[in-house]
Amino acid sequence: MTRGGPASYDGVADEYSRALDPDGVGLDDPVLTELVGDVAGQDVLSLACGQGQDARLLARLGARVTAVDVSAEMLRHARRHEEAAPRGIAYVEGDAHELAAFADESFDGVLCHMALMDIPDLDAATRSVARVLGDGGWFVFSIVHPCYGGHVEAVTDYLLDHRYRKPRPPEWLPEHAYHRPLAIYVEKLTNAGFRIERLEEVHYSAADAGSVPGLFYARVVRRLRRRRAGSGDR
Ligand SMILES: C[S@@+](CC[C@H](N)C(=O)[O-])C[C@H]1O[C@@H](n2cnc3c(N)ncnc32)[C@H](O)[C@@H]1O
Repeated sequence: MTRGGPASYDGVADEYSRALDPDGVGLDDPVLTELVGDVAGQDVLSLACGQGQDARLLARLGARVTAVDVSAEMLRHARRHEEAAPRGIAYVEGDAHELAAFADESFDGVLCHMALMDIPDLDAATRSVARVLGDGGWFVFSIVHPCYGGHVEAVTDYLLDHRYRKPRPPEWLPEHAYHRPLAIYVEKLTNAGFRIERLEEVHYSAADAGSVPGLFYARVVRRLRRRRAGSGDR
């Protein structure tokens, strides 16, 4: 969605929840889990949590989890899993562009699994993530590797930041998403005050891939600039 528009995942939420983590055990992704690291006892935000599979992974790792998504229908499935097997995850309906429900510096870390390419304004989203993180706060995200357009084919207009129509989306994904070259991700993250700690590129075999042949992962860390005495500058 854009701000105030319909949430595009509302229409596929039932199919998505049947296709991914139907039993509600939580995401199984060794690369992401390693990048997240030891989060026991930390306050962590699952950003664009959908039906909650990454929030459940964070809870399994011992974090205190708040999870936010713009789609009421995806959240309905997330809450259904929480009701069936309570993990103390608080699900909040909200827009990643603002994260209006959350105060500045309220989380130790933010995890965003496979969603930044669904969010129209990357600049606003990365600045909101930076705002809700404290000094040294971490942000781990995964996206469809930008070398693929439409999730399944090599992209032809790689350098163009654009909204694309997936040529053959499975029934559990909306038709449109946003392609950005990696340089745009780096630019927006560094502008928002993040320092890159690690990047990972993972290719999946045709058998494993489903609709996604490769993922790009990053772990970045927020450094706040301290106010100088006598200046309101940060
Ligand atoms: C591919 S799903 C990923 C969901 C979940 N992270 C997972 O891995 O299953 C993308 C999610 O991004 C959410 N989303 C898209 N735009 C958003 C926005 N502006 N604010 C919050 N969530 C958004 C969608 O509603 C959807 O649940």
